[in-house]
Amino acid sequence: MASDSRDVLARIDSEKERYLEELKDYIRIPSISTDPDFKADVLRASEFLVGKLREASLQAERIDTAGHPLVYAEWLGAPGKPTVLFYGHYDVQPVDPIELWRHPPFEPTVEGDKLVARGATDDKGQSFAHVKAVAALLAERGKLPVNVKFLVEGEEEAGGQAIDEYVKKDGGKRLKADAVVISDSSLFAPGQPSLLYGLKGLCYTEIKVTGPNRDLHSGTYGGALWNPLNALCHIVDGLRDAKTGKILIPGFYDDVRPLEAWEREEWARLPFDEEAYRTDLGVPELFGEEGYTTRERTWGRPTCDVHGLFGGYMGKGAKTVLPSWGGAKISMRLVPDQDPEKIGKLFAQHVQAIAPKGVTVEVMGLHGAPPVVIEVQGPIVDAALDAMEEIWGARPVRVREGGSIPIVSTFASVLKCPVLLLGFGLNDDGLHSPNEKFNISHFYKGIRSVARLLDRLGDL
Ligand code: BES
Ligand code: MN
Ligand code: MN
Repeated sequence: MASDSRDVLARIDSEKERYLEELKDYIRIPSISTDPDFKADVLRASEFLVGKLREASLQAERIDTAGHPLVYAEWLGAPGKPTVLFYGHYDVQPVDPIELWRHPPFEPTVEGDKLVARGATDDKGQSFAHVKAVAALLAERGKLPVNVKFLVEGEEEAGGQAIDEYVKKDGGKRLKADAVVISDSSLFAPGQPSLLYGLKGLCYTEIKVTGPNRDLHSGTYGGALWNPLNALCHIVDGLRDAKTGKILIPGFYDDVRPLEAWEREEWARLPFDEEAYRTDLGVPELFGEEGYTTRERTWGRPTCDVHGLFGGYMGKGAKTVLPSWGGAKISMRLVPDQDPEKIGKLFAQHVQAIAPKGVTVEVMGLHGAPPVVIEVQGPIVDAALDAMEEIWGARPVRVREGGSIPIVSTFASVLKCPVLLLGFGLNDDGLHSPNEKFNISHFYKGIRSVARLLDRLGDL
């Protein structure tokens, strides 16, 4: 019989307004990890979190790294009981296009049940729920039902290199755990929680195409040499077949693990209104890899996308220039068993092979993340499913996602324990977009879910 959590749930309920105010203070720190101008703010966010973990009576410290700091904390007062490692990230994405925000992105604003701000859901709000659940349990009982550790990073949005090195070096000593709990994703649908068992990997690149040593008059010189922007478009066009949606990089699909029959069946049974999806996105039609459904494309098949194309004249009106260079940011989302490094090499080779001879092309790797599919079964997983069901009113469905959390595959391989991806967000939270939001009721339910989960794990 699972122990009773009424005491802690009542405490969470009576203190929830304070938790929300603390979350707002956390969000006000603009911890954008990918922009060096915000380095001091990222540091400040790590200090804020250390402070909150200490306030909750955990041993907490900041661990400086070659990149942004890690935050580590622990409470190990339940010998013989399982140990839970909570992971999250306190860094956020850049805010542009800033003009589309209804309020300043780092001034958290309440709109009904929504808290609107950068980082509200990804991942300050969701991972702060872990902190507050542990704080509430300790405040209520002076002890926890299990041992807990926290490892929170400040550069997930920048590829998560420092934490990867830290976890690999630790090798499961200090970080030894029976389960990793991560809340950095979404419910499947409102009222329908999910347990993620797969995330895509990523290989992020930037290419620079250089032509003449200076901008030229397009009449005087046009026709005599390759315009680097034309060459760039030619290269981009050579990445993907416009009819079949197949990626044209030789060897790209070699290591792709085919979707299993059971998951194709299970996914097809999950509700999905393709027409509503299309209209919500405002496009005339959906498009993707031939032979796969929309959901299979987004959850289980690799993709290749251009994120930015730059160069040439981008001001008002017309300018007849033949630019001297052009560039693009391009990434590939990967699935098991593709290797980001190998894919990066294949990409670079292909780009060089199809590049016109009249330009010089430089291919740079920015960051990557390995794809992951996790085993989700056993008593710990069942405890998580039960706890989520109790709080959200429905049993979680097992799904994969197209996003990436770089450290997940390292956790799985180094710690060799279940990694529970329990998201509290919603698909329309607008992560990485203007007016990112987190439903305040989801913040509270997230806190309750974690408290309940720890109590259930304490009963195992
Ligand atoms: N929280 C997201 C990942 C995510 C999004 C998981 C949606 C499940 C559903 C995470 O913060 C993120 O944005 N990751 C980056 C990683 C990249 C920069 C290495 C991503 O997926 O683009
Ligand atoms: Mn995230
Ligand atoms: Mn993110």
